[in-house]
Order: sequence, then structure tokens, then C-alpha cells
Amino acid sequence: GLRKKEVNVLCLGLDNSGKTTIINQLKPSNPSNLLGPFSEEWKHVSQTQTQEIVPTIGFNIEKFKSSSLSFTVFDMSGQSRYRNLWEHYFKETHAVIFVVDSSDKLRMVVAKEELDTLLSHEDIRCRKIPVLFFANKMDLQDAMTSAKVSQMLCLESIQDKPWHICGSNAIKGEGLQEGLDWLQGRIK
Ligand code: GTP
Ligand code: MG
Repeated sequence: GLRKKEVNVLCLGLDNSGKTTIINQLKPSNPSNLLGPFSEEWKHVSQTQTQEIVPTIGFNIEKFKSSSLSFTVFDMSGQSRYRNLWEHYFKETHAVIFVVDSSDKLRMVVAKEELDTLLSHEDIRCRKIPVLFFANKMDLQDAMTSAKVSQMLCLESIQDKPWHICGSNAIKGEGLQEGLDWLQGRIK
């Protein structure tokens, strides 16, 4: 049959924002269940969900298939000492997922700095790749709304790329499907 188009997706954001938790939610919960918890569209190729999520060292690579696309997701570490790895994957990526801890007001400026570095990088700047933001940890009492997160990150100033922000609770999986459906529709 027709081969699915292969696309690379970079998952970025500060440490502790919830990147790995989000990616883990896309995997099926037990080995006999080939389909993930979302739509039948999102089928994980190799592994099932991990119970315990630990801070990522360097990065992890995960593969998923939807009805039309074959995804390779680079789940990068957000720790400052590993953030210099991010740019090595900019050139080859077809989309970016940028995850923010909506309750981490203190580090929102750091998240914005990293976002600005991403958007101004020569391998990203002139390309119309879609950028999906998850305003994650919406369940926490002191979480900012996605509108507030959008304002703090100055997302309205992004003119040259399609972007979208979704509130999410990665532990429960809430908000993830909406975001990923948006992303899938924008990947060229
Ligand atoms: P690095 O790999 O260090 O860059 O972090 P990460 O962005 O991959 O974060 P990770 O997925 O490891 O999650 C960090 C912590 O936040 C874990 O304890 C998660 O359980 C928790 N967490 C993730 N998403 C949510 C959420 O939506 N709500 C709440 N309350 N906690 C969350
Ligand atoms: Mg991680």
C-alpha cells in the first residue's frame, strides 16, 4: 500500500513542564491494546505506557502512526544543561510542540527566552512549521489560563507560522487530543 509520510516532531519546553508525561499519554496503556487511549488514529509503534516518569536525560525518541502520517517524536530534556541539544534537531523537524508549566510563573520568562531563541534560529525562522503550545498543569490551583500564558509568551507576535495553544492536564490526558489534531492538520 501507500507509505505514510514520515514526519519529525520536536517536543520542547523547560524541565518539569510535562513533555514526557504528554508523550507517554499517547502510548497504549497495556501491551494487548495496540491502539492508544485517544482516537484510533494515534497508534504507538513500539512501547506501552510507563508508570513512572523520570526527568529526561538528553532526549528520547518515540514513534507513532496516525492514519496518514508516521511520526518520530523527539522528547527533549528541558534541563538547562541539555537545552543546547535542541537546536541540532531544528533543521529536520516538521513541527514543534512547546510545553509550558502554567503554574510556574517564576520561570515563564525563562520559557519565553527559550521560545524566542527557537523562533529566531536560522533553521526555524523562515519556515512555516506549525508550533503547538500546551499550557500544561491546568489542574493546579495557581495555574494561569492559556490566554494568560499566551500573553506572557507574546504568542500574538508570531506572524510567520501557524500556532495554537491548548490548556492541558497531561496526567489525565485532557486537552491533548485537541492539540494533536490541530497539529496533524497543519503538518505539510
Ligand atoms: P524534563 O524531562 O526534565 O524536561 O521534564 P518534562 O517536561 O518531561 O516533565 P515530566 O513529564 O517529567 O513531568 C514533570 C512532573 O510534572 C511529573 O511529576 C509529572 O507527573 C508532573 N506533571 C506533568 N503534567 C502534569 C499536569 O498536567 N498536572 C500536574 N499536576 N502535574 C503534571
Ligand atoms: Mg522529559
